[in-house]
Order: sequence, then structure tokens, then C-alpha cells
Amino acid sequence: MHHRNQILNLTAAALAGSLLAGCATTESTSSGHSSWGSSYRAVQGTEQPARNAGFRAASEAEFELLKKSVLFTDDDVRYLRLSRAVLEPNVDELLDVWYGFVGSNEHLVYYFSHPTTKQPDGEYLDRVRGRFREWVLTTADADFDQDWLNHQLEIGLRHHRLKKNRTDGVEAVDHIPMRYVIALHYPITTTLKPFLARGGHSDKDVQGMYEAWRKAVLMTAILWSQPYVEPGDF
Ligand code: HEM
Repeated sequence: MHHRNQILNLTAAALAGSLLAGCATTESTSSGHSSWGSSYRAVQGTEQPARNAGFRAASEAEFELLKKSVLFTDDDVRYLRLSRAVLEPNVDELLDVWYGFVGSNEHLVYYFSHPTTKQPDGEYLDRVRGRFREWVLTTADADFDQDWLNHQLEIGLRHHRLKKNRTDGVEAVDHIPMRYVIALHYPITTTLKPFLARGGHSDKDVQGMYEAWRKAVLMTAILWSQPYVEPGDF
């Protein structure tokens, strides 16, 4: 209970903070994409799968086969892009819901907390929230090119002990188990659906956007799982 109250306070602080952080760090690149502070889009036109911490990002050809495997088609790209305008004005409220979910689950907020004091780190939550916000919009942009694939490996590493905590220079629990990264696919997409209905689109289009998001977040979680498995097993 103590934790829960604390997190509600943190969430409010995070909302205010991330709005400010967003103003300070978000810039537009020449392709019109939002950047991520030290943006993965800052260097344009990467053609090669990145190598990072001993892993290689998926290539565009490999990603094509992953898309086929989850039935992700050009219709899904169109639906993701349709969702962008629906989600953008609601993204902070959406993040409140997702942060509320993590914050009300002690076993999840633990990964934003100091390993010995178990105190959640408000500044860490706040800073990650800014990047989470960008992720929502970038996913809706659906420009799943090699730059994007390279960045997915980086995000996977940031959930893993190989790179967790480094971006923000924090002293938090150093590793998120893969089972939770995969599990969050469900609550993240389920809670998204009511937000997708806010744009006044037909039921068919809302359902289409929802299905596209389910597939996109599933592919995201799959790509992020690479650092968790033996090289060659991914
Ligand atoms: C489908 C599942 C998940 C999604 C879509 C997601 C989304 C994100 C995003 C977009 C970021 C920012 C990445 C960046 O640095 O650019 C992030 C970072 C982070 N996420 Fe997740 N996440 C998921 C699962 C989880 C789980 C299960 C936890 C455990 C509570 C978690 C905790 C964190 C933490 C602590 C960070 C900051 C990592 C760092 O130190 O850089 N995430 N997540």
C-alpha cells in the first residue's frame, strides 16, 4: 500500500516531468521523425544490421519473415499510421494507464527501484516515460527500416543487464526477466484499445488498428528478447 501511494505520486510527478523532458529533448530530424534525445534517427540511412554487445540486429530480410509469421501486412502499416493521429493527443493519458499498471504491481515497479532500499526511483520513471512516449509515436509511424531494427536491439539490451540503467545513470535493479517483457504485451495492447476508439473511426477501423498494434508490440517483444537467448538461438 505504501508503495502504491508512492507510485501514484511518482506517476503525477512523472507526467509533469516527462512533458518538460519531452520539450527539452525531442527534436525533429530531416525525415520528420521525432528523435529520442541521442536519437537512433539522428544518423540517417543506416543500411547494415548493427552489432551491439555481441549481438547482431535483425536484418530487413529477417524482419520480413517475422512479419509474415505474425500475419503483419501492409494493411497493418496503414492501420498503425491511422492510429498515430488518434493516439498523439491521448498519449500522456495512455502512459498514465500503463504506468498505473506497473506502479500498482510491486513485482514490476521493483525494476524501477533501488535493489537494496526497494525505493522506486522517480527520476528514472520520469526519464523512461519520455522515451516510452516516443516509442508509442514511432511504433505508430511504422517505418520499420534497418535504423528501427537496429534500435530494437538497443532497447532489448536496455531491459537486460547488459545495458539496463546506463542510459539514465541510475542504480536500480539491473535486469528485467524476459518472461515479464513478453507478458506485458497483453496488458499494453488490451489497455490501448479504448484509446484507439477515441478517434471517431468505424468499428472496423478501430479493430484494424488494434490488431495492427497487437502484432507490432508482439514483434517488438520478440526483437527485444534477442539478448536473453544464446547467440544463434534467436
Ligand atoms: C511489451 C513489453 C514492454 C514494452 C513495450 C516496453 C517499452 C519500453 C520502452 C519503449 C522503453 C524505453 C526504451 C529506450 O530506452 O528507448 C522501456 C524501458 C524500460 N522498461 Fe520497458 N517495456 C516492456 C516491458 C517491460 C517490463 C516487463 C518491465 C518491468 C517492469 C519494463 C521496465 C522498463 C525499464 C526499467 C526501462 C528502462 C530501461 C533502462 O534502464 O534503460 N519494461 N520499456
